[in-house]
Amino acid sequence: MYLKNFIRDKNVASITPTSPFGVRKVCEKIDFKKRNVIIEFGPGSGVFSKYILRKMTRDSKLILIELNKNFVTILQNRVKDQRVGIFNDNAENVLNILESAHELGADYIISGIPFSFIPFSTKNSILNNTYLALRNGGKFLVYQHSNHLKDYLKRHFDMVRIEHEIRNIPPLCIYEAIKFSSSHVNHL
Ligand SMILES: C[S@@+](CC[C@H](N)C(=O)[O-])C[C@H]1O[C@@H](n2cnc3c(N)ncnc32)[C@H](O)[C@@H]1O
Repeated sequence: MYLKNFIRDKNVASITPTSPFGVRKVCEKIDFKKRNVIIEFGPGSGVFSKYILRKMTRDSKLILIELNKNFVTILQNRVKDQRVGIFNDNAENVLNILESAHELGADYIISGIPFSFIPFSTKNSILNNTYLALRNGGKFLVYQHSNHLKDYLKRHFDMVRIEHEIRNIPPLCIYEAIKFSSSHVNHL
């Protein structure tokens, strides 16, 4: 199923879902003890979504934004939970989606969308909108197969940390980008 979507849609950009090692390493940066609004860009078949739902509080909210219709159908069948909103949309529209979910800001935004395939202006727009969608202190958690995103994130966010998970195939580069203030909007 995953391979089929990969062959038909270049935005899928991976032949397998992220491994449990990768999922845990990204999600260990989330404080699951408090109420959170968590947004996921590109949930695919839902490996992160299912893990997050097991850990998050009953009053937290998970907003899934997925471009691929086949994955949206899979998510609608697999991720049945009142705390979840599923949107067949582009991550670039995160601000409108947040508003339609009646939330003012996100505590965490997790992303596995393939930034290296995304045109320059769209990438800039996604990063700007992501920054604006986060509350102060909010984190953008990104997993990619290379470290190409480091400089972009440093221009948009107030602090960026990088880690690796080599037990994923291929290995993952995990970025933790933090928003401290609410003011700036950057252009690359
Ligand atoms: C590498 S897969 C990751 C899937 C899943 N999160 C995982 O870890 O196994 C990338 C996912 O991002 C989705 N995607 C790509 N570009 C997107 C965009 N601009 N907005 C929303 N989803 C996007 C793809 O359809 C695909 O499901």
